[in-house]
Amino acid sequence: MASPQEARVPDIGGYDDVPVIEVLVAPGDTVEKDQSLITLESDKATMEVPAPFAGTVREVRVKVGDTLSEGGVVALIEPAAGNAPDADARRAQPEPPARADAAAETGTQVEPVAVPGDADNIAQASIDHQAGVTPPGDAAPLRRFDADAVLPGKVPYASPAVRLFARELGVDLSKVEGSARGGRISHEDVQQFVKSSLAGTATAGGGTAAAGGGLDLLPWPKVDFSKFGEVEEQPLSRIKKIGGANLARNWAMIPHVTQHDDADVTDLEALRVALNKESAADRSGDGVKLTMLAFIMKASVSALRKYPEFNASLDAAGETLTLKKYFHIGFAADTPNGLVVPVVRDCDRKGICEIAQETSALAKKAREGKLGPAEMSGGCFSISSLGGIGGTSFTPIVNAPEVAILGVSKTAMKPVWNGEKFKPRLVLPLSLSYDHRVIDGAAAARFTAYLAQLLGDMRRAML
Ligand code: COA
Repeated sequence: MASPQEARVPDIGGYDDVPVIEVLVAPGDTVEKDQSLITLESDKATMEVPAPFAGTVREVRVKVGDTLSEGGVVALIEPAAGNAPDADARRAQPEPPARADAAAETGTQVEPVAVPGDADNIAQASIDHQAGVTPPGDAAPLRRFDADAVLPGKVPYASPAVRLFARELGVDLSKVEGSARGGRISHEDVQQFVKSSLAGTATAGGGTAAAGGGLDLLPWPKVDFSKFGEVEEQPLSRIKKIGGANLARNWAMIPHVTQHDDADVTDLEALRVALNKESAADRSGDGVKLTMLAFIMKASVSALRKYPEFNASLDAAGETLTLKKYFHIGFAADTPNGLVVPVVRDCDRKGICEIAQETSALAKKAREGKLGPAEMSGGCFSISSLGGIGGTSFTPIVNAPEVAILGVSKTAMKPVWNGEKFKPRLVLPLSLSYDHRVIDGAAAARFTAYLAQLLGDMRRAML
């Protein structure tokens, strides 16, 4: 019978006095090589200390709550017959790291960890493999455990039992949010994740994943910018944070395509300017400034009527389209705190003056930060007009659960060929982004061309 040998804590990257949070074996247990003996929990990672060889646990030297540092004795293990640790064999045959499960879950490659002065060890990938075991007569140096190298980014923070449970269910732990102390993933968290996945609402790393999908994104780069020059940190406004989360979801979840077109608004702009002049001259003083945006909103109603799939919303499962019989149009308003989208209701029943009046009142309220939630909800279709600022085209992000958004850029006088000669025309650039799951490219081209036609001759909007 071989004499029991000590299983010790390997080099754990300079951490000292790391608490033992789980003891996974008891005296008399038979363990396989690499089976976890205990779990240590530093403030950065959960580390399992594996058995260095198969055998029988004769004594466990630690209990939950004890703290251990490199070299601390975990247990005495009696090697199984013919399984005595052989340092030379271990050197010759690199083993997969004990955290291979974690590496697989995070999609990271485990790099060899070099021990200075020991060239042989550079070729070995294992970190926990040596597990700090010091068999008699084996002076193999302890391998450095570099938690950052092995477990970069989001480390799934879970006990071996929970890991095993997750593996059995095929759950990628890097996508599960831990609800226990310090973000630890519990058994219930895994169950909840499975339920949410089945319902199509599971979240992945703070983003959103469709059922069966998931965005295996790299962790956000962490850069100490102050190393390169002077910097100042500014927290994002509440509106930007909420809006940003929506934009990120919409950008990631919606297959966007943007259709660009030009509208000849020469006549419309002439009419708008003339009407505004008349209004300014009106002594009653209640004249409304007619804006290009109000005309575009009215024209959009006509286009939405003609192409109803643009006035629709797709459900979360991506299976059912809800077609709307009302026409509430949102418009992006730039405010000191960020972008908001007030909604003008029932644009089909309102005249252009009324729409212009409402957009201007809503934009003012938005800038003052006084918009109520009701004034920003219920939209069918959104318009983002940057025309007053500049630009020739852009790709707006669809405002889910809407399926299309119209971007409007700055009008420009351009030479337009009329079949016989070039004529100077005032051209308004339109950029329609749409959800390609719902709208085909041909439909988007028709919608945009029709919109351009309406803006070219607003009388058509009356039809
Ligand atoms: N081309 C050229 N000039 C335009 C134009 C266009 N497409 N649209 C408006 N203008 C001009 C107007 O003629 C007006 O000029 P004037 O002051 O000489 O009369 C000026 O720009 C302001 O236009 P107005 O119609 O009063 O306002 P607007 O419709 O341009 O803007 C809001 C109203 C609320 C849309 C605007 O304030 C806003 O917030 N825009 C930004 C939207 C945004 O950030 N979108 C990005 C989302 S990704």
